[in-house]
Parts: sequence; C-alpha cells; structure tokens
Amino acid sequence: MCVVVIAIIVTAAWFYSQATMSNVGELSFQNPLRIPERLQPTVDRAGVKQFDLNVQAGESQFRGGQRTPTWGANNAYLGPTIRASRGDRVELAVTNDVDETTTMHWHGMHLPAEMDGGPHQRIEPGATWTPTWTIDQPAATLWYHPHLHGTTAEHVYRGVAGLFLLDDETSSGLELPDDYGVDDIPLIIQDKAFNSDGTLDFDTPFLASLGILGSDILVNGTHDPHLDVDHQRVRFRVLNASNARTYNLGFTDDRDFQLIATDSGLLDAPVTLDRLPLSPGERAEIVVSFTPGDDVVLRSYPPDLGNLGFWNNRFNGGDDTFDLVQFRAAEQLAPSAAVPDTLVEQNPHDPDDAATTRSFHLSGGAINGKPMDMDRIDQAVTVDTTEIWEIDGSGMAHNFHVHDVRFQVLDVDGRPPPAHLTGWKDTVPILPGTTVRIILAFSDYTDPATPYMFHCHILRHEDRGMMGQFVVVDPGQAPGRPHDHDD
Ligand code: C2O
Ligand code: CU
Ligand code: CU
Repeated sequence: MCVVVIAIIVTAAWFYSQATMSNVGELSFQNPLRIPERLQPTVDRAGVKQFDLNVQAGESQFRGGQRTPTWGANNAYLGPTIRASRGDRVELAVTNDVDETTTMHWHGMHLPAEMDGGPHQRIEPGATWTPTWTIDQPAATLWYHPHLHGTTAEHVYRGVAGLFLLDDETSSGLELPDDYGVDDIPLIIQDKAFNSDGTLDFDTPFLASLGILGSDILVNGTHDPHLDVDHQRVRFRVLNASNARTYNLGFTDDRDFQLIATDSGLLDAPVTLDRLPLSPGERAEIVVSFTPGDDVVLRSYPPDLGNLGFWNNRFNGGDDTFDLVQFRAAEQLAPSAAVPDTLVEQNPHDPDDAATTRSFHLSGGAINGKPMDMDRIDQAVTVDTTEIWEIDGSGMAHNFHVHDVRFQVLDVDGRPPPAHLTGWKDTVPILPGTTVRIILAFSDYTDPATPYMFHCHILRHEDRGMMGQFVVVDPGQAPGRPHDHDD
C-alpha cells in the first residue's frame, strides 16, 4: 500500500477515535445544581401579569476559576422560570441589553403570530418588545429563546434560554410533585465546547454537520452538578436546550422512571421507561422514585440517530455517553403520593377530519428544496381545520418543530409511534430516511401577513435555512406579504 493511502487511513482512524466523547469517570459532582429562580410578575389593575426579561451579557464561572463570557436573561447565563396559568393575561417586556439584534420566542405557546417572537419580531439593541396574550392551552413545560434568523444558534449557545411553565385546573388537581425547586425540578441540559482560556468555542468540529457538539455538559448552567433529594418522588422537567445534541436519558442503575408529560402537556397515563431520547427543543416530565441514602446519576447513553452509517453516527454524537447530574437522597425522605394512574384526557385529533395533507422534506439546508426566505410564505392553513403533515428527512438526523400549535404523532414509517412520542408534542425527531406523520388543528389568531415558523430545531440547520413560514387565514383568504422586518 502506498504511503499516502496509509497516511489517509491513519488520519481517518485518528479522527474517528477522537470523535467519540464521554465525561464518565471525569466528574466529581461537586457543584450544587442551580435552580433557575422564578420570575415574579407584577399584576396591573386589569389583572395582567407583567414579566420583565432583560437579555444581557455577563460572565460565568462554570469550570474551576475560569471565566466565560456568556449571555442570559436577567442573569449572566440562562433566564428565570416564568410560570402562568391557563386564562392568565400575560405581558412580557423583553429588553435587549446586548449589542446585537435579537428576538424572544415562546416555544410551544399558542398565541397570535405577532407575539410569537420569531424572526420577524426583531428587538434592536436598547429596545423593549412587549408582547401580550392570554394563556389558552393545557398545562405544559414550555421554554423561551431567541429566534433571529441566522443567529439563533449563537444566541442560544451563549446562554439565552429559560423555562415557561403553564398550569391549568386539571394539572393543579392532580397529585403530582409540584413544589418548584423542591420536588419539581427543572433540568435544562446543554453541551458546551470550551476553549482553553474558558471562552465558549463557536467552531463546528470536524465533520459534525449538526454544528457544535461539546464535550462538557451544563445542567441549569451548572457544570459537574449534584442535587440533594429529600422527597420519595421527584418530578423533573427536562429540556434539551442544546443546539444539536440528542440525549438518551437513563439512570446508571437502570432504574425505571415514569414519563408523565411530553412537550405540550400531560399524558393520559404515566408510561414506565428506563431510557428516554430527547432531541433539541424537546421536553419531557418524568417522576423518579428515590430510597433513603440513594446515590444515582442521570446519564445520557448513546442515542439512536437512525441509519447514519457508523462514520456519521460517530461524528454526530451517536456514540457519546455523558453523566449529567448526580442525585443524592437524604437518609429521611418526605413521603410523596404515587403518580396517579390516569392523568389527562387526550382528545386526539381524528385523521378522518383532516382537510389536507402537506409534505415536508428536510434536506440540504432547505425544506422541500427551498431555503428559508423571510419574504416568502410557504403555507397558508385555514383556521379551524385539521391537517396531516408528513415529514421526512435525508442525509442527517433532523427534527421538526411547529410554532403555535401542538400536534400528535400518527405514525413513524407507518408504525405507531414509540411510547415517548404518543403524547402532545411540538417537536419530533426525524431520523434519516424515516417519514413521520403528525396531525395538527389550527385555531384562533388569523393573520395573513404575519407568519409562524416550522423548522428543524438543530439550530445550525435552522439558521442555514431549514425553516419555512406558515400563516393562519380565514376561509378563502389569501396569504399576504410579511412586512414587519427590514432585510
Ligand atoms: Cu424553539 Cu422556532 O423554536
Ligand atoms: Cu417554537
Ligand atoms: Cu436538521
């Protein structure tokens, strides 16, 4: 064999062996898990709950004494947890205190398109944007993050993201752990790549077409974290707020846990699992049982990224294993009620009611061959109709998120969805070569000229154009032209 060929093989083997990541055995779980503070609203005379968010730059210390320039909302890194109930009128005052234009999107929220915080609702440096709407959807774990076209990945990676929890009468009536920060704990999982000086690395690693895949994990902005548990059962609201990485959650002793909610609300009944995949943007609520003195680690096992081939699988995180957070149970645990056998009636949409089926093909930085264009409305859907959307992807692992509405997964390649995809969702993995059919119903807030987005939530793909725009119109109404941005 000629020397060049050998050199190529050796180099390739080196890259291959370097590309797998794990932190197992490297952590000591020394840092108490930070719990994002709850943002208290002021209530005006009309009963409107007003929340203030300031997008700001700061400095964080994640590892040792190293200082990392970061962004956050009301914090140097991440943002506070916002909580509201169905029926509440809310007003968010989002001030941009960084030196770049940004936006703030309420991921999973059913609301008028103008309030959605997508790429058209720009917030210039120094400006305050004040959307207002009435919460009108079931209890769920939602989140917020910037959504400026082209820089979403960077703004989220710098640290602008937070939870937006919704309650309703049904959820409040269920005996579930719900004492925030006590037995109802958020877990915002993000991977980071650090430079040796502690700054965030923004470079995409060799052959990682998904974008940045970091080898350090932050949970709620805490590196190397542990949580002291003092209840028999704890509900965790897990958000994958990573740009690109898919996790496959499980415990190091393989204990079972109960999945009680997915992106857009509670399930009809808890599902017992020992592994739970979560792609970027997806959320899940799980209830975990602890025994006195328990000591267990939540780990991400190698995720199934579909049929990528061994090479791409490795370069996109398919062989990676990460310890996320250690739980240390006290010797005395406060009693918790068992998870109810039934949770929330699902009222699934009926495929027979679907007025239309639309197809979306994700590939090459585009959807259906068209990269995102701020001036083009891709789909107009009629208010008060049900539709089936059929999504498939090629080349890479993708996922698919739809603004404004929640959906149910009808099938994956013609087969019923796995248990963790049976509930209400707003983001669903689209593995290479598979077709996922979802059913959605559009209601309220017609606006022919202000679009909502649908896109891959792998943020580099989204930024590069794997996004499209839809408007909700009245019957017979033609879509307008987006007007509220400058190019
Ligand atoms: Cu989480 Cu269009 O966004
Ligand atoms: Cu969204
Ligand atoms: Cu993608």
